[in-house]
Amino acid sequence: MRQPFIAGNWKMFKTVHEAVVHVKELRSVVKDVEGVDIVVAPTATALHAAAEAARNSNIAVAGQNCHWERDGAFTGEVSAAMVREAGAEYVIVGHSERRTLFGDTDQTVNQRVHAALGADLVPILCVGETLDQRDGGQTLAVLDQQLKRGLDGVSADHVASMVVAYEPVWAIGTGRNATPEQAQEAHAHLRGRLRSWFGADAAERCHVIYGGSVKPANAASLLGQPDIDGALVGGASLDVAGFAQIVRAARLGA
Ligand code: PGA
Repeated sequence: MRQPFIAGNWKMFKTVHEAVVHVKELRSVVKDVEGVDIVVAPTATALHAAAEAARNSNIAVAGQNCHWERDGAFTGEVSAAMVREAGAEYVIVGHSERRTLFGDTDQTVNQRVHAALGADLVPILCVGETLDQRDGGQTLAVLDQQLKRGLDGVSADHVASMVVAYEPVWAIGTGRNATPEQAQEAHAHLRGRLRSWFGADAAERCHVIYGGSVKPANAASLLGQPDIDGALVGGASLDVAGFAQIVRAARLGA
């Protein structure tokens, strides 16, 4: 049985101070919640302080990206080992904003996945189609390609421990979420691919979570779908009360 997994992607929001205040508030609001993995992903500068603020709580911390080299002349990048040392247990890899704005490709996403696993971080691998691709009937083919290439060379044991986030690009930050049926179809497809490529055990244990305009009002119906194991929440995660409501919806849907 997969425990629900709710992660807040803070994107380029919250200073160190704001991140610490947020985590302290969140930990008091969700302290009684059991049976849900609760994760927040602050910016790189706030990672360490947020991890310290979350210490000995039921909240874990994720980076938003990591480079594949351990160190070197890569101005502006942060390595997986550095993200881990800062206190993160997870790292988001291949978010569509990274792919469209910062040149991430399936190949570099795959390199980041390997680097994360090598640094003892759990990758949260994001995949998802654009509106044009959906309208053109290419959704499942796009997901296949991003998943296959993103997981190239990854062992079944590692896949079992990982999180795959289905994030339709047209639903991110638009207020227009995928319907529960659309999301379930994509998730069931992704799990089927995991099963054929990595075996039934890895497919059953890997978390496949949904992202794209998740908010308190739609969380329960999305999380109630059999193959939706949680949510990657952007905008709505910036508000403690709203994020906590989504966490509670996950517990009820479990
Ligand atoms: P959103 O973002 O919830 O603001 O749509 C989701 C994401 O980018 O992970």
